[in-house]
Amino acid sequence: MQPAPVLCGIGTSLPDRVVTNDDLAARLDTSDEWIRTRTGIRERRVVDPGTATGDLAHAAAQGALKSAGSAEVDLLILATTTPDHPCPATAPDVAQRLGLTGIPAWDLGAVCSGFVYGLACASSFVRSGAATRVLVVGADTYSTITDPDDRSTRAIFGDGAGAVVVRAGTPDEDGAIGPVSLGSDGSQRDAIIVEAGGSRRPLTDAHTTPDGRYFTMRGRTVFRHAVERMAQSAEKVRAEAGWSTEDVDCLVAHQANARIIDAVAARMGVAPERCATSIERLGNTAAASLPLALAEAARSGRLHTGDRVLLTAFGGGATWGAAALTWPDVTPMSI
Ligand code: COA
Repeated sequence: MQPAPVLCGIGTSLPDRVVTNDDLAARLDTSDEWIRTRTGIRERRVVDPGTATGDLAHAAAQGALKSAGSAEVDLLILATTTPDHPCPATAPDVAQRLGLTGIPAWDLGAVCSGFVYGLACASSFVRSGAATRVLVVGADTYSTITDPDDRSTRAIFGDGAGAVVVRAGTPDEDGAIGPVSLGSDGSQRDAIIVEAGGSRRPLTDAHTTPDGRYFTMRGRTVFRHAVERMAQSAEKVRAEAGWSTEDVDCLVAHQANARIIDAVAARMGVAPERCATSIERLGNTAAASLPLALAEAARSGRLHTGDRVLLTAFGGGATWGAAALTWPDVTPMSI
């Protein structure tokens, strides 16, 4: 019988520094009231200078391995938009720091959908028999690419990392990952973009302005597409899993904005109390948002062993994806 991918460990890592809405309002033209009512965010974590995405990824991965009860891994995928360097990828360095030198390790660029894309890759490797234990890490430090003077992005994003271990098992086990769906639409490439620093607009280009280095987004467009794509892809995997809407114990949507999460749930007919959220304390942590929300839901008792979980995400590109799984008997670990 073909092996089934089974989630068997989860770890998280957050920077110590908390930045509240009032902290932001002290230097930007914004307010706690505006940010809370438009996004549901009260505070976010931000790295100190010198701490890189790879540091958070490494710590989250250590937590996931501890949670899984084994340091054995034969593949590592790191979803991130904020690698330690433009070149090389950060994943091999994280693997080496974990004592996993020699295994295949690469970065995956699907912006805020990166974790679902990584989970899909891990599932395929496990199903095909090409890997038996895969570390999937989602880690981002958007504070390093957002403009300190831009209230519209600075208020939304936070830094963090989450990681899971996916092992070969059977489809009837708690933790089994079922249907996965991915998609993209390149016509939306400008809606979320860091204009400069790639080959189309190198930093060395004489026409590159300092602003080109920063992350920008068209908030309203992103909002609309995020709701539509996340609801559509989650509905697709729900149907493929053979679950009714009432069967869904927990919907974990990308933590982009509390109003986006509410709109996705409303479209799907999932009651708000069945939605996991970590946005209030963490903001949008990009590729880390789903594993961080899962870990928080498990820690708070919101998620129970055997619960039917739908994950759904949307990110720059545009990219989106969803996955269905049952929740395993695991304790999230943070290092
Ligand atoms: N404080 C105060 N005002 C702000 C602000 C802030 N932190 N951020 C933006 N504004 C202002 C805008 O500058 C704009 O001002 P203007 O009308 O004078 O130009 C006004 O608020 C309205 O902006 P708009 O973008 O229309 O507001 P909105 O209700 O759509 O909320 C977002 C803005 C960014 C919160 C919302 O669009 C959003 O969450 N989009 C999705 C973002 C996201 O999830 N991105 C990542 C997805 S992977």
